[in-house]
Amino acid sequence: MYEFSRAVNSMHSEDIKLLMKQSSREGLISFAGGMPNNNLFPVKEIDEVYNNVSHHLKKLCFQYGPTSGYPPLVGSLQKIMLRKGLPVKNDKILITTGSLQAISIITQEFVNEGDVILTERPCFVGAISVFETYGAKIIGIPIDADGIDISALKNVIDSLKTPPKFLYITPNFHNPAGIIYSEKRRRALLDVLSGTDIILIEDDAYGDLYFDPRDEMLTKPIKSYGGHNVEIIYTGSFSKILGPGFRLGYMLSSPEIFEKAESIKQALDACTSNFMQILANEFIIGGYLEPYLNFLRKEYSERKNILQKSLKKHMPKGIQWVEPQGGFYMWLRLPDNIKATSLFTDCLNKGVIFVTGRTFDPDNIKDDHLRLSFSNMPKDTIEKGVMLLSKVISSHMKDIERLEFSRQN
Ligand SMILES: Cc1ncc(COP(=O)(O)O)c(C=O)c1O
Repeated sequence: MYEFSRAVNSMHSEDIKLLMKQSSREGLISFAGGMPNNNLFPVKEIDEVYNNVSHHLKKLCFQYGPTSGYPPLVGSLQKIMLRKGLPVKNDKILITTGSLQAISIITQEFVNEGDVILTERPCFVGAISVFETYGAKIIGIPIDADGIDISALKNVIDSLKTPPKFLYITPNFHNPAGIIYSEKRRRALLDVLSGTDIILIEDDAYGDLYFDPRDEMLTKPIKSYGGHNVEIIYTGSFSKILGPGFRLGYMLSSPEIFEKAESIKQALDACTSNFMQILANEFIIGGYLEPYLNFLRKEYSERKNILQKSLKKHMPKGIQWVEPQGGFYMWLRLPDNIKATSLFTDCLNKGVIFVTGRTFDPDNIKDDHLRLSFSNMPKDTIEKGVMLLSKVISSHMKDIERLEFSRQN
């Protein structure tokens, strides 16, 4: 028997590992994977990019780079962020190995064991696992279709003896809930945090993936809003706009936070792969990114439309969801007496899987939702998957009705 650290005993990591194992079964229709479909990756474009890279730059690909990131990529990101209204002149960018590493670095920078972190409830499970690993006490605040519940947030902040270290949120096309924060809610959130010393971590992994170009303005980062005194760390990722295999993310923060983060990153992995940073940068400066994003927006929008239509056609009454305006996810609310985990095995046996709501609950309890990811689905299997899912849900609903009827009679 080994004496493992507390960090490895995270419940959430176990759930993810189990799911990953099950979702690789052949022939399964999987709404589980929160990743792009392999057929959507820009393989041809990256071939072109690499073939056009100079011999000098190719040699640099193999080398270590500065801990803060490959300077030309930092420059390209500054331009992209400037267009989003982000304060790149005063604040500094740190390139990270996926944005999950940025979340991990920020946690390491601020959190001691037992410290409180506020998150949304539900919350991106990768972030929950990181917070658990560092021994944080996580308090989840409910969200609705417009964002975090402001009065619940206020109540929690008022009730705490020592202020939480930070609040972690995903305002654009939330994982798992699919929602986008309204502007009113973003401003109300800043009002609540103002003067509290609670840092806001704004995770914008999906902001570029709006379906309708007119919705681009809705994705404006909270960090770009003026007229407040809230410290905001903004994180972003190339995983959903180029490919998770690149393992490229970044964080934008004040110089003071950046400096400490850079030291932590130095100890973690010295630098993010130069190879991937150079390819990503050449992809951006070669003018490939915008057309590729437009292609992705169209593809994901089509998948969402098929899923929306299929759900409307086949789902029994009593199942609720908010139609997303971007991103990867639909978040289905089950009737009160049905638990997502109780559906899972029957669905698996019928050949369809999803992620249970409990996975995204910081307390690992609330299980009245299921997450359907449409990003990874071939368009022609979506309806079949929904039909299988609907059948299992309907049969569970009937069983419960029967049970309740016999209890009453
Ligand atoms: C909300 C959110 N943030 C961050 C990430 C992590 O992305 P990366 O691959 O850049 O580490 C994900 C991945 O699914 C995500 O959904």
